[in-house]
Amino acid sequence: MGDDVLVVVDNTFASPLLCRPIEQGADVVVHSTTKYLGGHSDVTGGLAVFADPARYRTTWHHSIELGVTPDPFAAWLTIRGLRTLALRVRRHEQNAEILARRLAAQPAVHAVHAVHWPGLDTHPSHTVAGRFLSGYGSTFSFDLADTEAGRKFVTGLDLVSLVPSLGGPETLVLHPASTSHRQLTEEELNANGITGGTIRLSVGIEDADDLWQDISQALDR
Ligand SMILES: Cc1ncc(COP(=O)(O)O)c(C=O)c1O
Repeated sequence: MGDDVLVVVDNTFASPLLCRPIEQGADVVVHSTTKYLGGHSDVTGGLAVFADPARYRTTWHHSIELGVTPDPFAAWLTIRGLRTLALRVRRHEQNAEILARRLAAQPAVHAVHAVHWPGLDTHPSHTVAGRFLSGYGSTFSFDLADTEAGRKFVTGLDLVSLVPSLGGPETLVLHPASTSHRQLTEEELNANGITGGTIRLSVGIEDADDLWQDISQALDR
């Protein structure tokens, strides 16, 4: 990258299995290790990877002085999670593909292009995603008709939990309009690509048919 512009990529959603930003020219890559790297919804943490060793050393010294370091058990849990990252990421993605394709065929899912998983060839970023990623990930959103439909869907799920996180073994759902983004007006939501009916799914590693059974009964409501 250029000398005066630092490019920092948050690679949390992709993980290093699907995207390697430093090889593509980024200066710094950050991850919430709470998500796919830890992978078990039992530890919070983060890390930064530097292309430039001198920048790494300076930041490392600051982080030691400021105490931005994990406790030993958090570090152990994260390393334990990393051992199965490759297996988990592939399984998450296989399940995500099954659910994204089934959702895209559902009449309750609001409109054309309403399933925002870049592995679908109808997705506007499908080609770009194919260039930068070696897989399409497993956290994606889809749009139901309106806020009421979104609220009914998330409260009608039994197996899938309504939790504002992602990257764990269990499938998690989020309804931004009534939870994480409830402070935004409808115009602000729309400006961020979110509708009242937008649902985010972090697809886990359970049996895909069990997940689909739960999702389809909640859609029926
Ligand atoms: C893309 C992304 N980066 C960073 C974070 C922050 O992670 P943490 O909750 O571990 O502080 C999150 C949390 O949701 C996230 O989704």
